[in-house]
Amino acid sequence: MFSFSHLSIPVIQAPMAGGVNTPSLVAAVSNAGGLGSFGFAYTTPEKIHADLKATGDLINQAPRKRINANFFVFEEPIMPNLEMQRAALHDLQSVIGDWGIQTSLPSSPYIPNLEEMLEPIWEHQPEVLTFHFGIPPEQVIEKAHTLNISVGITATSLEEALKIQSAGADFIVAQGIEAGGHRGIFNSDGTDLQLSTMDLLRALNGRVRIPVIAAGGIMDGQDIHQMISLGASAVQMGTAFLTALESGASSAHRRFVMEHHHLGTHFTRAFSGRSAQGIHNEFMKVMEGKTYLPFPAQNTMTAPMRQWALEKDEGHYQSLWAGRSYAKARALSAHDLMIILQHEYLAAKATT
Ligand SMILES: Cc1cc2nc3c(=O)[nH]c(=O)nc-3n(C[C@H](O)[C@H](O)[C@H](O)COP(=O)(O)O)c2cc1C
Repeated sequence: MFSFSHLSIPVIQAPMAGGVNTPSLVAAVSNAGGLGSFGFAYTTPEKIHADLKATGDLINQAPRKRINANFFVFEEPIMPNLEMQRAALHDLQSVIGDWGIQTSLPSSPYIPNLEEMLEPIWEHQPEVLTFHFGIPPEQVIEKAHTLNISVGITATSLEEALKIQSAGADFIVAQGIEAGGHRGIFNSDGTDLQLSTMDLLRALNGRVRIPVIAAGGIMDGQDIHQMISLGASAVQMGTAFLTALESGASSAHRRFVMEHHHLGTHFTRAFSGRSAQGIHNEFMKVMEGKTYLPFPAQNTMTAPMRQWALEKDEGHYQSLWAGRSYAKARALSAHDLMIILQHEYLAAKATT
C-alpha cells in the first residue's frame, strides 16, 4: 500500500481538472520523488485510459504506478424550474452579447457516470485514488483496497475529516480557504467555516488518526516546512504547478498567473455553479448577482464561451482557477521546480 514516507519530497502536484495535468507533468513530478496527479472529473474513460498508459510509460525513476487519479463525487443537480433556467441562460447571453457564441440550456444527464470513469482505474491501478466534494460509494473504497490502491478525500473542516476517516479512507486532503479551484466542501450550500490551511491543520491535529495532506497557498519550501511542522504528512500544490513548462494550462491562464497580480482572486459560482477560487476576471465581475444553474449544469452551459475564449486567447472569459498566493508562481520545468522545492524545504528544516 502507498505511504507518504515513500516520497523523497513530500509534495503532491494537485489534481487539476480541465486539461492542466498532462502525462509529462505528472510523470516529471513522480520521477522527481513526489506524487503527480490527474484531475479526471470531466475526462472520458478513453482519455483516462490513454493518459494513465502514457504516464506509466514516462515514469522511470519511481514505481510506474506512482500516480494519483482524482474524481469529483457528483450528485445529480436539482434543477430549478424552466423559468429560472431560462433566466440563467438569459443572464449568460446578456454578458456574451453578439460575439457569435452558441449557448443553450443543458439537458440531462447532467453528471458523468463515475462507475464508467473508474473502469480504467481498476485496469491501470494507479497507487492513489482521490475524491473531491464528498465520499464515494462504500464499494468504491473497498474495491480500491482490494487492488492495493490508497484512497484520499478532501475535507474543509474537522466534521468532514471525521466522516472521511469513518468511511475507511486512507488519508485526508485538508483544503484551506487559500486554495485555488473548487472548494471541496461536501455541502456547497451549507455553512463554510472558511478555515485557512494552517487553522484547518490545527483543528485536525490529534483528532484524526489517518495522514493529513495540507492544500492551499503552499508555494515554496518554507511553506512546505510550515505545514509539515503542523502535522501534515505531505502537501498538495496546485497553483505552483500551473505555470510549469509541462502544464496544460492555457496561455492566457499562465499569463494572468505570471503578470496580472493586481487582480487578486475571488470565489465565484458563475463558471460552474459551484464555488471555486480563481483570478478575479471580467466574467466573474459582470456575473455578480446574476442567476446561475446548479453545478455542473452551469459548467456545461458556459463551456462554449470558455472554448471561444480559449481560441481567442482571452483570459477574461476563461475560468482561471488559482490560489491566493498565485503571485509567487514560478515558470520552470516541473523537474527544476521539484529540485528547488526540495532545497528550500531542507534549508527551512535546517534552520529550526
Ligand atoms: C486549476 C485548478 C484546478 C483544480 N482542480 C481540482 C480537481 O480537479 N480536483 C481536486 O481535488 N482539486 C482541484 N483543485 C484544488 C487542488 O487540489 C488544491 O486544493 C489547490 O490547488 C491547493 O491550493 P493552491 O492552488 O494554492 O496550491 C484545483 C486547483 C486548481 C488551481
